[in-house]
Amino acid sequence: MGELSDEQKESFDRDGVLVLPDFFAPTECDALQDRMAEIVDGFKSAESDTVFSTTEQKHAQEEYFLTSGDKIRFFFEEDSDSSLPTDVSLNKVGHAMHDLDPVFSEFVRQPKIAQLATDIGFNDPLLLQSMYIFKPPKIGGEVVWHTDHAFLWTDPPSVKGFWVALEDATIENGCLWCIPGLHNQEPKNRFRRKETGGTEMQIFDSTDFPIEKRVPLEAKRGTMVVIHGLLPHWSSANLSEVSRHAFTLHVIEGSANYLDDNWLQRSPEMPLKGFTI
Ligand code: FE2
Repeated sequence: MGELSDEQKESFDRDGVLVLPDFFAPTECDALQDRMAEIVDGFKSAESDTVFSTTEQKHAQEEYFLTSGDKIRFFFEEDSDSSLPTDVSLNKVGHAMHDLDPVFSEFVRQPKIAQLATDIGFNDPLLLQSMYIFKPPKIGGEVVWHTDHAFLWTDPPSVKGFWVALEDATIENGCLWCIPGLHNQEPKNRFRRKETGGTEMQIFDSTDFPIEKRVPLEAKRGTMVVIHGLLPHWSSANLSEVSRHAFTLHVIEGSANYLDDNWLQRSPEMPLKGFTI
């Protein structure tokens, strides 16, 4: 038995996005949110907030980001100021909770997610990246139009995003938007490490996405949104009074070539794993 009907598979192939309400029970969302609250508490007491504060040097911030592919690290909103408590100023935590934390590992390795990956065409799925996104009220920032493939490039393109609404995502609190069907376009850009250090966005096509065709992906708590790696998506700043917590998992195909100048790299001691360990 698959997770998806033929109609759902066709709709994903056509649109590059699939919204699956009630994919997770409220208790499953609770478990992930409670565990993240513990992880954040641990960070507050164990590590000084100055490790990645907005007042730090840009270079140090970039190093902290560029070495986070096989760690659990904490990233703050640009508009946060040091008077705000950590809990309400975090933008996200990433990028390897799914391999380093038992609760996250168990969550992402549920058979229903593995089956969903099979249903959308994965043969040898590798779990590349996990992120817990806070999108806090009032200061949660915009995420500009992009495709995930630009950041997690494989040859051939293979990355897919599994986006989980841990709280209701609405137009008001900054839900995802996408341009259905645009996953069939050639990549417009690529974010990569430079040989000389640091990173750059390579531009292949400087035209804008046709954002007049964008549609909102409002999602109730427990909804799974599957996003094709070449589908442009965006979310607005959260100017509302409520947070918009979400969890994302990015998966690539084992047989595809993951480029060694992608920003996210793992140490040889921590190779990528699949849904079964
Ligand atoms: Fe994305």
